[in-house]
Amino acid sequence: MRIIKYVDIMSAKNEGRKKIIISPGIMVSPYARETARSFGIDIVEYSRNKREEKNMRKLFIAGNWKMNKTNSDTVKLLSDLKPRVSDAGEVDIMVAPPYTSLTLAAEILSGSNIMLGAQNMHHEESGAYTGEITADMLTEAGCSWVIIGHSERRKYFGCTDELVNKKLKKALQKGLNPIVCVGEQLEDREGGNTFEVLRRQVTKGLEGITDLVTIAYEPVWAIGTGKTASPEQADDAHKFIRELLADIYSPEDAEKIRILYGGSVKPGNVAELMAKENVDGGLIGGASLVAETFSQVVKF
Ligand code: 13P
Repeated sequence: MRIIKYVDIMSAKNEGRKKIIISPGIMVSPYARETARSFGIDIVEYSRNKREEKNMRKLFIAGNWKMNKTNSDTVKLLSDLKPRVSDAGEVDIMVAPPYTSLTLAAEILSGSNIMLGAQNMHHEESGAYTGEITADMLTEAGCSWVIIGHSERRKYFGCTDELVNKKLKKALQKGLNPIVCVGEQLEDREGGNTFEVLRRQVTKGLEGITDLVTIAYEPVWAIGTGKTASPEQADDAHKFIRELLADIYSPEDAEKIRILYGGSVKPGNVAELMAKENVDGGLIGGASLVAETFSQVVKF
Protein backbone atom coordinates (compact mmCIF):
# COMPACT_ATOMS: atom_id res chain seq x y z
CA MET A 1 0.00 0.00 0.00
CA ARG A 2 1.52 3.34 -1.03
CA ILE A 3 1.37 6.26 1.40
CA ILE A 4 1.82 9.88 0.37
CA LYS A 5 4.33 11.34 2.80
CA TYR A 6 5.83 14.71 3.61
CA VAL A 7 8.66 14.15 1.09
CA ASP A 8 6.13 13.66 -1.71
CA ILE A 9 4.54 17.00 -0.90
CA MET A 10 7.96 18.67 -0.81
CA SER A 11 8.88 17.30 -4.21
CA ALA A 12 5.51 18.44 -5.61
CA LYS A 13 6.21 21.89 -4.16
CA ASN A 14 9.71 21.96 -5.68
CA GLU A 15 8.23 21.05 -9.05
CA GLY A 16 5.79 23.95 -8.68
CA ARG A 17 2.76 21.66 -8.69
CA LYS A 18 -0.50 22.88 -7.19
CA LYS A 19 -2.32 19.57 -7.39
CA ILE A 20 -1.48 15.97 -6.54
CA ILE A 21 -3.77 13.35 -8.04
CA ILE A 22 -4.03 9.99 -6.31
CA SER A 23 -6.19 6.92 -6.69
CA PRO A 24 -8.67 6.24 -3.87
CA GLY A 25 -6.63 3.34 -2.46
CA ILE A 26 -3.62 5.55 -1.71
CA MET A 27 -3.20 6.77 1.89
CA VAL A 28 -2.05 10.26 2.81
CA SER A 29 -0.25 10.76 6.11
CA PRO A 30 -1.80 13.44 8.34
CA TYR A 31 1.46 15.42 8.29
CA ALA A 32 1.60 15.27 4.48
CA ARG A 33 -2.01 16.49 4.29
CA GLU A 34 -1.25 19.36 6.64
CA THR A 35 1.91 20.30 4.72
CA ALA A 36 0.02 20.23 1.42
CA ARG A 37 -2.64 22.52 2.88
CA SER A 38 -0.01 24.99 4.12
CA PHE A 39 1.52 25.20 0.61
CA GLY A 40 -1.87 25.44 -1.09
CA ILE A 41 -1.41 22.09 -2.83
CA ASP A 42 -4.68 20.21 -3.43
CA ILE A 43 -4.74 16.44 -2.99
CA VAL A 44 -7.40 15.15 -5.35
CA GLU A 45 -8.68 11.61 -5.69
CA TYR A 46 -9.12 10.27 -9.20
CA SER A 47 -10.24 6.80 -10.20
CA ARG A 48 -10.88 5.04 -13.46
CA ASN A 49 -14.63 5.58 -12.95
CA LYS A 50 -14.08 9.28 -13.57
CA ARG A 51 -12.77 8.46 -17.04
CA GLU A 52 -15.97 6.57 -17.77
CA GLU A 53 -18.04 9.54 -16.61
CA LYS A 54 -16.14 11.79 -19.02
CA ASN A 55 -16.55 9.32 -21.90
CA MET A 56 -12.83 9.12 -22.45
CA ARG A 57 -11.33 6.44 -24.71
CA LYS A 58 -11.52 2.99 -23.11
CA LEU A 59 -8.59 2.51 -20.78
CA PHE A 60 -5.97 -0.01 -21.88
CA ILE A 61 -3.43 -1.36 -19.39
CA ALA A 62 -0.81 -3.68 -20.87
CA GLY A 63 1.99 -5.48 -19.05
CA ASN A 64 5.29 -5.99 -20.86
CA TRP A 65 7.11 -8.67 -18.92
CA LYS A 66 10.30 -8.23 -20.97
CA MET A 67 12.87 -11.03 -20.32
CA ASN A 68 11.28 -12.17 -17.07
CA LYS A 69 9.32 -15.22 -15.89
CA THR A 70 9.84 -18.90 -16.58
CA ASN A 71 6.84 -21.11 -17.29
CA SER A 72 6.39 -21.92 -13.61
CA ASP A 73 6.57 -18.19 -12.76
CA THR A 74 3.97 -17.53 -15.44
CA VAL A 75 1.56 -20.03 -13.91
CA LYS A 76 1.95 -18.39 -10.50
CA LEU A 77 1.66 -14.80 -11.72
CA LEU A 78 -1.34 -15.32 -14.00
CA SER A 79 -3.21 -17.54 -11.55
CA ASP A 80 -2.78 -14.79 -8.97
CA LEU A 81 -3.64 -11.97 -11.39
CA LYS A 82 -6.80 -13.41 -12.97
CA PRO A 83 -9.11 -13.25 -9.94
CA ARG A 84 -7.68 -9.87 -8.90
CA VAL A 85 -8.76 -8.16 -12.13
CA SER A 86 -11.81 -10.25 -13.09
CA ASP A 87 -14.10 -7.45 -11.92
CA ALA A 88 -12.17 -4.62 -13.61
CA GLY A 89 -14.90 -3.39 -15.92
CA GLU A 90 -14.23 -0.88 -18.68
CA VAL A 91 -10.51 -1.61 -18.85
CA ASP A 92 -8.81 -3.57 -21.60
CA ILE A 93 -6.06 -5.66 -20.02
CA MET A 94 -3.21 -7.38 -21.83
CA VAL A 95 -0.04 -9.18 -20.78
CA ALA A 96 2.99 -9.88 -22.96
CA PRO A 97 5.03 -12.74 -21.45
CA PRO A 98 8.18 -14.13 -23.09
CA TYR A 99 7.64 -16.36 -26.17
CA THR A 100 8.26 -19.56 -24.20
CA SER A 101 5.25 -18.88 -21.97
CA LEU A 102 2.75 -17.79 -24.63
CA THR A 103 0.95 -21.09 -25.21
CA LEU A 104 0.78 -21.78 -21.51
CA ALA A 105 -0.44 -18.24 -20.80
CA ALA A 106 -3.13 -18.60 -23.49
CA GLU A 107 -4.44 -21.70 -21.73
CA ILE A 108 -4.49 -20.04 -18.33
CA LEU A 109 -6.11 -16.85 -19.66
CA SER A 110 -8.74 -18.64 -21.74
CA GLY A 111 -12.18 -17.29 -20.81
CA SER A 112 -10.71 -14.47 -18.70
CA ASN A 113 -10.76 -10.72 -19.34
CA ILE A 114 -6.97 -10.62 -19.89
CA MET A 115 -5.73 -10.57 -23.48
CA LEU A 116 -2.43 -12.00 -24.64
CA GLY A 117 0.34 -10.28 -26.57
CA ALA A 118 3.92 -10.85 -27.68
CA GLN A 119 6.86 -8.51 -27.20
CA ASN A 120 8.15 -8.57 -30.78
CA MET A 121 7.90 -10.46 -34.08
CA HIS A 122 9.77 -10.81 -37.37
CA HIS A 123 8.38 -9.22 -40.52
CA GLU A 124 9.01 -12.14 -42.89
CA GLU A 125 6.52 -14.92 -43.48
CA SER A 126 8.98 -17.68 -42.51
CA GLY A 127 12.50 -18.79 -43.34
CA ALA A 128 16.13 -18.84 -42.30
CA TYR A 129 16.04 -16.28 -39.48
CA THR A 130 17.49 -18.17 -36.54
CA GLY A 131 15.96 -17.20 -33.24
CA GLU A 132 13.08 -15.23 -34.72
CA ILE A 133 9.29 -15.63 -34.48
CA THR A 134 6.59 -15.09 -37.12
CA ALA A 135 3.17 -13.51 -36.81
CA ASP A 136 1.50 -16.87 -37.58
CA MET A 137 3.39 -18.48 -34.70
CA LEU A 138 2.05 -15.78 -32.39
CA THR A 139 -1.56 -15.99 -33.50
CA GLU A 140 -1.48 -19.78 -33.27
CA ALA A 141 -0.02 -19.52 -29.77
CA GLY A 142 -3.06 -17.45 -28.81
CA CYS A 143 -1.83 -13.86 -29.14
CA SER A 144 -4.10 -11.09 -30.31
CA TRP A 145 -1.58 -8.30 -29.65
CA VAL A 146 2.06 -7.64 -30.47
CA ILE A 147 4.39 -4.89 -29.24
CA ILE A 148 6.44 -3.41 -32.07
CA GLY A 149 9.49 -1.15 -31.92
CA HIS A 150 9.99 -1.15 -28.16
CA SER A 151 12.95 1.09 -27.31
CA GLU A 152 14.87 -1.91 -26.00
CA ARG A 153 14.46 -3.58 -29.41
CA ARG A 154 15.62 -0.35 -31.05
CA LYS A 155 18.57 0.07 -28.69
CA TYR A 156 19.93 -3.47 -28.34
CA PHE A 157 18.65 -5.32 -31.40
CA GLY A 158 18.91 -2.84 -34.25
CA CYS A 159 15.20 -2.22 -34.75
CA THR A 160 14.84 0.81 -37.04
CA ASP A 161 11.81 2.83 -38.13
CA GLU A 162 11.92 0.91 -41.43
CA LEU A 163 11.77 -2.42 -39.59
CA VAL A 164 8.96 -1.13 -37.39
CA ASN A 165 7.05 -0.33 -40.58
CA LYS A 166 7.66 -3.79 -42.05
CA LYS A 167 6.71 -5.58 -38.82
CA LEU A 168 3.60 -3.44 -38.52
CA LYS A 169 2.45 -4.29 -42.04
CA LYS A 170 2.95 -8.00 -41.43
CA ALA A 171 1.22 -7.91 -38.03
CA LEU A 172 -1.83 -6.18 -39.51
CA GLN A 173 -1.92 -8.53 -42.48
CA LYS A 174 -2.04 -11.43 -40.01
CA GLY A 175 -4.78 -9.92 -37.87
CA LEU A 176 -2.62 -9.04 -34.87
CA ASN A 177 -3.30 -5.78 -33.01
CA PRO A 178 -0.03 -3.89 -32.81
CA ILE A 179 1.17 -1.51 -30.14
CA VAL A 180 3.77 0.69 -31.79
CA CYS A 181 6.28 2.14 -29.34
CA VAL A 182 7.88 5.54 -29.79
CA GLY A 183 9.86 7.74 -27.43
CA GLU A 184 12.86 10.00 -27.16
CA GLN A 185 16.21 9.43 -25.45
CA LEU A 186 17.33 11.69 -22.62
CA GLU A 187 19.69 13.62 -24.90
CA ASP A 188 16.83 14.23 -27.35
CA ARG A 189 14.73 15.75 -24.59
CA GLU A 190 17.59 17.80 -23.19
CA GLY A 191 18.49 19.00 -26.67
CA GLY A 192 14.90 20.08 -27.34
CA ASN A 193 14.46 17.42 -30.04
CA THR A 194 11.67 15.36 -28.49
CA PHE A 195 9.00 16.31 -31.01
CA GLU A 196 11.34 15.90 -33.96
CA VAL A 197 12.18 12.34 -32.84
CA LEU A 198 8.51 11.52 -32.29
CA ARG A 199 7.60 12.93 -35.70
CA ARG A 200 10.22 10.75 -37.38
CA GLN A 201 9.28 7.59 -35.48
CA VAL A 202 5.54 8.00 -36.01
CA THR A 203 5.59 9.08 -39.67
CA LYS A 204 8.19 6.54 -40.78
CA GLY A 205 6.82 3.76 -38.63
CA LEU A 206 3.27 4.26 -39.92
CA GLU A 207 4.13 4.96 -43.56
CA GLY A 208 1.53 3.41 -45.87
CA ILE A 209 -0.57 2.14 -42.96
CA THR A 210 -4.32 2.68 -43.16
CA ASP A 211 -5.50 0.50 -40.25
CA LEU A 212 -5.72 2.26 -36.90
CA VAL A 213 -3.05 1.06 -34.47
CA THR A 214 -2.39 1.60 -30.78
CA ILE A 215 0.62 3.75 -29.93
CA ALA A 216 2.75 3.67 -26.77
CA TYR A 217 4.75 6.74 -25.87
CA GLU A 218 7.68 5.58 -23.76
CA PRO A 219 10.31 8.23 -23.08
CA VAL A 220 13.48 6.13 -22.90
CA TRP A 221 14.79 8.09 -19.90
CA ALA A 222 11.73 7.06 -17.89
CA ILE A 223 11.93 3.30 -18.55
CA GLY A 224 13.01 1.25 -15.57
CA THR A 225 14.60 4.31 -13.99
CA GLY A 226 11.91 5.20 -11.48
CA LYS A 227 11.78 8.60 -13.22
CA THR A 228 8.30 9.13 -14.62
CA ALA A 229 7.44 11.79 -17.13
CA SER A 230 5.24 14.33 -15.39
CA PRO A 231 1.58 14.02 -16.35
CA GLU A 232 1.96 17.28 -18.27
CA GLN A 233 5.03 16.05 -20.19
CA ALA A 234 3.18 12.86 -21.07
CA ASP A 235 0.04 14.71 -22.14
CA ASP A 236 2.05 17.15 -24.30
CA ALA A 237 3.80 14.29 -26.09
CA HIS A 238 0.54 12.38 -26.53
CA LYS A 239 -1.21 15.48 -27.87
CA PHE A 240 1.59 15.97 -30.38
CA ILE A 241 1.41 12.31 -31.43
CA ARG A 242 -2.37 12.65 -31.86
CA GLU A 243 -1.80 15.64 -34.15
CA LEU A 244 0.58 13.53 -36.23
CA LEU A 245 -2.05 10.77 -36.34
CA ALA A 246 -4.66 13.30 -37.50
CA ASP A 247 -2.42 14.05 -40.51
CA ILE A 248 -1.74 10.37 -41.21
CA TYR A 249 -5.35 9.17 -40.83
CA SER A 250 -7.97 11.87 -40.21
CA PRO A 251 -8.78 14.03 -37.18
CA GLU A 252 -11.80 11.78 -36.43
CA ASP A 253 -9.72 8.61 -36.57
CA ALA A 254 -6.94 10.16 -34.48
CA GLU A 255 -9.53 10.73 -31.74
CA LYS A 256 -10.27 7.00 -31.70
CA ILE A 257 -6.66 5.86 -31.34
CA ARG A 258 -5.41 4.94 -27.90
CA ILE A 259 -2.02 6.31 -26.92
CA LEU A 260 -0.55 4.51 -23.91
CA TYR A 261 2.13 5.94 -21.66
CA GLY A 262 5.04 3.77 -20.54
CA GLY A 263 7.91 4.45 -18.17
CA SER A 264 7.92 3.71 -14.43
CA VAL A 265 4.12 3.60 -14.09
CA LYS A 266 3.19 2.34 -10.63
CA PRO A 267 0.13 2.21 -8.36
CA GLY A 268 1.24 5.52 -6.83
CA ASN A 269 1.41 7.54 -10.06
CA VAL A 270 -1.07 5.83 -12.38
CA ALA A 271 -4.05 8.02 -11.44
CA GLU A 272 -2.39 11.33 -12.23
CA LEU A 273 -1.18 10.04 -15.60
CA MET A 274 -4.52 8.51 -16.59
CA ALA A 275 -6.36 11.68 -15.57
CA LYS A 276 -4.83 13.40 -18.60
CA GLU A 277 -7.03 13.84 -21.62
CA ASN A 278 -4.61 12.33 -24.12
CA VAL A 279 -3.33 9.46 -22.00
CA ASP A 280 -5.44 6.40 -22.73
CA GLY A 281 -3.65 3.72 -20.78
CA GLY A 282 -0.27 2.37 -19.81
CA LEU A 283 2.40 -0.02 -21.01
CA ILE A 284 3.76 -1.32 -17.75
CA GLY A 285 7.14 -2.99 -17.24
CA GLY A 286 8.39 -3.60 -13.70
CA ALA A 287 5.00 -3.13 -12.02
CA SER A 288 3.44 -5.81 -14.25
CA LEU A 289 5.66 -8.53 -12.78
CA VAL A 290 3.78 -8.77 -9.49
CA ALA A 291 0.06 -9.58 -9.53
CA GLU A 292 -0.80 -7.23 -6.69
CA THR A 293 0.92 -4.15 -8.14
CA PHE A 294 -0.30 -4.80 -11.68
CA SER A 295 -3.88 -5.22 -10.45
CA GLN A 296 -3.57 -1.95 -8.52
CA VAL A 297 -2.43 -0.22 -11.70
CA VAL A 298 -5.34 -1.77 -13.63
CA LYS A 299 -7.92 -0.86 -10.99
CA PHE A 300 -6.68 2.56 -9.87
P1 13P B 1 8.99 0.20 -16.62
O1 13P B 1 7.52 0.29 -16.26
O2 13P B 1 9.72 -0.88 -15.91
O3 13P B 1 9.66 1.54 -16.55
O4 13P B 1 9.04 -0.23 -18.18
C1 13P B 1 8.29 0.46 -19.11
C2 13P B 1 8.35 -0.27 -20.40
O5 13P B 1 9.35 -0.27 -21.08
C3 13P B 1 7.14 -1.00 -20.82
O6 13P B 1 7.24 -1.44 -22.14
